[in-house]
Amino acid sequence: MSVLFNEYNGIFNLKTKNSSYLMGILMGKHLVHLYYGKRIDEVSGDVEELIPTPFTAAFSPQDIDGRYSSDTIPMEYPCYGSADLRTPAFHAQYENGSTITKLEYESHKVFGGKKKLEGLPAVYTESEDEAETLEITLRDRLTNLRIVLSYSVFEELDAIIKSVKVINDGGGVVRLKSVLSSCTYIFNKEYDFVHLDGAWARERHIERQPLHHGIAAVDSKRVASSHHHSPFAAYAEHNTDERQGEVYGYSFVYSGNFIASAETDQFDTVRCQMGINPFGFEWKLEHGESFQAPEVVCVFSDKGFGGMSRIFHKLYRTRLVRGMYRDKERPILINNWEATYFNFDEEKIFNIAKKAYEAGIEMMVLDDGWFGHRDDDRSSLGDWFVDKRKLPNGIEGIAKRVTDIGMKFGLWFEPEMISKDSELYKAHPDWCLHVEGRERTEGRWQLVLDLSRADVRDYIVNVVSGILKSAPISYVKWDMNRNISELGSSDLCAERQPELAHRYILGLYDICERITTAFPEVLFEGCSGGGGRFDAGLMYYFQQYWTSDDTDAIERQYIQYGTSMVMPASTMGAHVSAVPNHQVGRTTPLKTRGYATVVGQFGYELDIEKLNNDEIEAIKGQIEEYKGIRETIHKGSMYRLTSPFEGQSSAWEFVSEDKSEVVLMHFTILVSPQLPLECVRAEGLDAHGIYIDKATNKEYSGEFLMNRGIYFDNSQDFDSKLIRFSRKV
Ligand code: DGJ
Repeated sequence: MSVLFNEYNGIFNLKTKNSSYLMGILMGKHLVHLYYGKRIDEVSGDVEELIPTPFTAAFSPQDIDGRYSSDTIPMEYPCYGSADLRTPAFHAQYENGSTITKLEYESHKVFGGKKKLEGLPAVYTESEDEAETLEITLRDRLTNLRIVLSYSVFEELDAIIKSVKVINDGGGVVRLKSVLSSCTYIFNKEYDFVHLDGAWARERHIERQPLHHGIAAVDSKRVASSHHHSPFAAYAEHNTDERQGEVYGYSFVYSGNFIASAETDQFDTVRCQMGINPFGFEWKLEHGESFQAPEVVCVFSDKGFGGMSRIFHKLYRTRLVRGMYRDKERPILINNWEATYFNFDEEKIFNIAKKAYEAGIEMMVLDDGWFGHRDDDRSSLGDWFVDKRKLPNGIEGIAKRVTDIGMKFGLWFEPEMISKDSELYKAHPDWCLHVEGRERTEGRWQLVLDLSRADVRDYIVNVVSGILKSAPISYVKWDMNRNISELGSSDLCAERQPELAHRYILGLYDICERITTAFPEVLFEGCSGGGGRFDAGLMYYFQQYWTSDDTDAIERQYIQYGTSMVMPASTMGAHVSAVPNHQVGRTTPLKTRGYATVVGQFGYELDIEKLNNDEIEAIKGQIEEYKGIRETIHKGSMYRLTSPFEGQSSAWEFVSEDKSEVVLMHFTILVSPQLPLECVRAEGLDAHGIYIDKATNKEYSGEFLMNRGIYFDNSQDFDSKLIRFSRKV
């Protein structure tokens, strides 16, 4: 049993393989957070004894039994209005104008498995014994508003998934202003706030700062999780590194405006919260209606960031991603974007495909520019009919030619957008997000379709599905290339306009659900100018994501390192591209571009027709090598052995689940003269197993590789090495 409730002392113990999450019902009414950390099987004491903070403080009103103040004790789901004057998880306005809520414990229930979240992405179970769910109902006595806190405990996968549902059973309308999805505490401020910061082509670089009194936060107000911050936060002890130390990781399964914050109070208690960003948010809840907030995945590890990431990886790879390609090997693809941009025709695409097929590549992906009259990025989004000037035989014609030679065929869409220069805009100028009387600000010369409208969503689903049915298409790249301004809908009444940011994301999930479940055998790759919306929410619909528009092998060391904090290699799209690199102008060896790409879903994005014979032979070798290791990379455990953020090299290791296959990669960034050799110690091996280096046939014991390690020579800028070991049987 992973959810334990002690009726005598009112304490819940949610137990995963290595963690415990304790809550207690104080005085039979008040749900208090008591502990989250390393697993405890036997809990001693009662709720009052286990509260790790002062019960009250000067200037803090004692709103609980005249003795305790919710301003100092760790309320499990803090709400605004009574004595707790820290940032609330919940804030609402009632019909009388009051914004006071006071939640009391009403009941709880436990059941096997995990419920689906209506209209939202969610981690799932395949059988009831994979998780146990606790639902605790809290009630505001005056308004009768009820809040259901849900905790799904995946004991074996070592994670707890939390979500919140608000039910308006009271008489009047309730205006929700903040409904965060998770609140937990650390009772000591000697922790670092770790988050993923970035920009276009520089996504998810790791940032780490010590917590301080006051609020540390990252957020998005862009109606997309964004390139700038990811809906992820970790709190780590100052000495935590990849291998050791305590860390809490929180990942929000949502793609829109979010906040991840840590508020450190007067007693050094840190309130860690995550949820939909309250900025600009409001939701009108009529009597009898409910509001479901998205879920947060909570992971605790005392095995450092590596331990934390491996929990996220396995959970997301096996119980968030769906579709036929969840478990199936993904095809090695070639994409024409950096090869041709908008300048291509059927012959060019076919010639790339033919040459790629001869080299061992398995799928041809036709990127932007195949529809309307899109010769550059200024037009045609929304006009999803083929440009016969470029493709006289339609998508069907080129798809058939490609599949006839034995390759798969994939196609690019940007379904959420509309160009002003398009037939669709002429017919439906009110289908984009806009506010009457205000400028419709373009970004990349495009506007955003109003996904809160059912007619717009139906149009997108029908037009995309029609194309997918019309030709042998095995893969879709779903792009999104701007953030949202002038957030307004012609379809929503004035008082519901503040709901639009969330309604847009619900609309996005609706079209993704309808299209991806209608075509379960199609591989979907998400994209937003690279990794601008690479979040756990969209991984419920897309099996992989274009990690970044930056294809440079060195910049990718940083981007992929940061991305892999949460996302498994099986979800990270990575392509070998031409040099000098189109984004940063750097020239790196083809070998290094190949190995950088191995840490993800492998593909190419260059004009293969321009390569010489030696390069083609090298590519054939890369593909051969990759085919031998892709299973270990995508289904094995990832170990980040050396961080590019801490020096001029990086090293990665993948170990198959049974520890018999190992892939270890080392990259040199910039060298200086006379550097010492670098020792890289393997991890996660069978200590007493004998591992054979497949290239040299040399034998090493697992403990030798893990304790003594391998020495690498950092003597050449941008050099790289890949070693494969197999355990002797
Ligand atoms: C942005 C994507 O990230 C690129 O890979 C490419 O598909 C372009 N959009 C096409 O416009």
